Amino acid sequence: MSKQTKAIFGDFQTPIELTRDVVELVLASDAAFAAVVEPTCGVGSFLLATSERLGPAASYFGFELNPCYVKACQDAVGNAGIEAQIQQQDFYEMDWKTLFARLPARVLVIGNPPWVTNAALGAMGGDNLPVKSNFQGHNGFAAKTGKANFDISEWMLIQLLESLRGRPATLAMLCKTATARKVLRHAWRNNFDLGRCSLHVIDAARHFGVSVNACLLLAHTGVSNGDQRATIYQDLSFAQPLQVMGMVSGELVSDTTAYLELRDLDGVEYRRWRSGVKHDAARVMELERVAGGYRNGLGETWPLEPDFVYPLLKSSDLANGRLSPRRYVLLTQSRVSDDAAEIETLAPATWSYLHDHCAAFDARGSSVYANRARFAMFGVGPYTFAPWKVAVSALYQDLRFQAIGSLDDKPVVLDDTCYFFPCQSRQEAEFFASLLNAETGQRFLRSLIFFDSKRAITIDTLRRIDLLKLAERLGQRKQAAAYLVDAPFEKGAQQMLLFDEQETYRV
Ligand SMILES: C[S@@+](CC[C@H](N)C(=O)[O-])C[C@H]1O[C@@H](n2cnc3c(N)ncnc32)[C@H](O)[C@@H]1O
Repeated sequence: MSKQTKAIFGDFQTPIELTRDVVELVLASDAAFAAVVEPTCGVGSFLLATSERLGPAASYFGFELNPCYVKACQDAVGNAGIEAQIQQQDFYEMDWKTLFARLPARVLVIGNPPWVTNAALGAMGGDNLPVKSNFQGHNGFAAKTGKANFDISEWMLIQLLESLRGRPATLAMLCKTATARKVLRHAWRNNFDLGRCSLHVIDAARHFGVSVNACLLLAHTGVSNGDQRATIYQDLSFAQPLQVMGMVSGELVSDTTAYLELRDLDGVEYRRWRSGVKHDAARVMELERVAGGYRNGLGETWPLEPDFVYPLLKSSDLANGRLSPRRYVLLTQSRVSDDAAEIETLAPATWSYLHDHCAAFDARGSSVYANRARFAMFGVGPYTFAPWKVAVSALYQDLRFQAIGSLDDKPVVLDDTCYFFPCQSRQEAEFFASLLNAETGQRFLRSLIFFDSKRAITIDTLRRIDLLKLAERLGQRKQAAAYLVDAPFEKGAQQMLLFDEQETYRV
């Protein structure tokens, strides 16, 4: 089988030692299973490991698309002396609900569904997708979850849990941690009858040679206790709980204990968080200062006027504590609505530089530039030019907030791999950065963030932290209120603050 075909079918057979450890854990708390089902069973490692423990007390069923694996699995269970029904079956064509309905309770559904995203399948030309349910379209799964990109195992696991609704069963599946989380969120939001669930972290690099956060997802169906939490354990045991994730007021949080303790910090966005500037023309717009002018990413040096050139920091700089800018960026606009034409009169060398490189701007693929000025950027506004900022990297798993100032009387600009809010002075920026870096602020944000997500730190998460409440918890409310009420950038938030003050006085 070629590497690509293996990838399209998410074909990583589970090593038998790992399956034995999984089975050990699953059967530790409950071994009363009358039927064991391994969907996408491959060569049947889970059937073999489970039968080693349960023997003929249970009946065994395996389903697999690849006929070579079906044969290998039949041989393996035959050699082990197990009676099992192994059949060639496309997961998507299977009526799982009917199968589960005719099996004796309790049912154990165990295995390792393919780890591949629909986007990767598209790129590889594979169509291992549930066509009938319009998996890729907006009427099917994507519409259900609001996601255009997902793991096919996410769909499979949801399908299995949905088919097990109302039946006392256990689902034990290896998958990416992000997949487990999305599956549980879907199940909890849709009131599936799940009991307490758990995630047990596994070392995917050691077992499968892939660098991804993965786990065993353990869920019990047919239990309606309304518990919408899952404990995350450090390994394939119940010995070392890391944290408890779960739904709080319809939202998934990564650490329910910390979140509930600090819930009052989930409040008003007094100071609006922003993304840095976006231009999609790095080789032309990002510059280095050299003798005789500025050098661009094409290796050319141009004698640009300094008027539109600003010092620049990126998320890698913030995450590595490199706060003295080494790069510069050309800001063609001071607001998204500007047409950049003033550059022609104010800075003719910059204007001819832009025209000389207009092809780089015209080639920008993103639809956000359609019908916009030729040299348009995004993420520019009065806040870009604030003399100080509180900034955090959006790409690195680093939650340190930095106070960023100016260089040679020019405000340091952040690119779109950073989030920030504007401040008027060094004292103000350092004040808010230290609030956010204090243990309470960090714990609150960490309780919301799933660090194994692709872009773990989102602007929506940052918007939730109430700077005033945070300051209050740290005994600094007065100072925070003075800064917040004074902000020239945030008219709306000031009104909220005044209103908030009145509320406080009335009590
Ligand atoms: C990650 S492997 C796991 C195999 C086995 N469960 C194990 O743990 O060793 C995923 C398996 O899913 C099978 N598969 C992929 N797409 C499938 C589909 N649409 N229907 C059934 N099986 C499929 C692959 O052939 C592969 O054997």
